[in-house]
Amino acid sequence: MSTEAGPRTPGVHRAAAGEAFFRIEAIPTVPAGPTYSPGIARCVEGECSMVALVRIPGGTRAMPHSHPNEQWTLILEGRGFHNCYGETVATAPFGLVYDAPGAIHHGWSEDPGQDVVFFTAKDTSHGLHGIRDPDAGAGAAAQAAAARAAGCNLPATVAGARRVQPGEHFFALPGLEAAPLGPPGSEVRGRLMEGERTTLALADLPAGARCPAHAHAEEEWIYILAGSGSVSVGEDRREASPGLLVRIAPGTVHDIAADAAMRFVSVKDKRNI
Ligand SMILES: [Fe+2]
Repeated sequence: MSTEAGPRTPGVHRAAAGEAFFRIEAIPTVPAGPTYSPGIARCVEGECSMVALVRIPGGTRAMPHSHPNEQWTLILEGRGFHNCYGETVATAPFGLVYDAPGAIHHGWSEDPGQDVVFFTAKDTSHGLHGIRDPDAGAGAAAQAAAARAAGCNLPATVAGARRVQPGEHFFALPGLEAAPLGPPGSEVRGRLMEGERTTLALADLPAGARCPAHAHAEEEWIYILAGSGSVSVGEDRREASPGLLVRIAPGTVHDIAADAAMRFVSVKDKRNI
């Protein structure tokens, strides 16, 4: 599908061919889920995946919903709860939620005085907006039972990844061991999670370290959470600081260099693996 096409979700920015760098605060807001969520999203769509920064007002909740695409939700600020498959977990910064395609889920903020902010990624088999499910209760629990009954020990297909198993939906990332990530010579370490269609990594690059120039067949997003340095995509090098969102089109050479210790999120599709 061409990157020149319009967005899948009304009002969402669709990355143009060759458009690689975005400042998240400059991306226009859209409702995160008009029929079920009080949140607002700053979203950019790519070819295979879309990413967004979502803010949920303190003390509010989303209603149960599902969508045909899978969803990663990495909590960055605030505390709350997430319910998937009828099971509730407490969420806090660097907790990672995985909602499998079609899984019924919802979340809410714990503290009226503090918004919940999260980085989210979905594959492009559907748009940003899901479908409200008013009859979620029994259906969600049945989904969990079916997932686990079918379930098994799915092997990782991405080197170094922790494959999400059927029925799993929450991971406290700081509790998982960090491992080397990236091409030969990379000094990146992180926690790499693999879903059905996409991967998400929480990655760290020490001060003065780098991820050398490389390319791969997967579309990739990088979102800078902390630190400073630079990122290059093709011939274009930009200063990196928190809030920089980078889209790397399939096959495009890119690198990362950290001046101050850098923490970032990386999302890739699995289409071309
Ligand atoms: Fe969702």
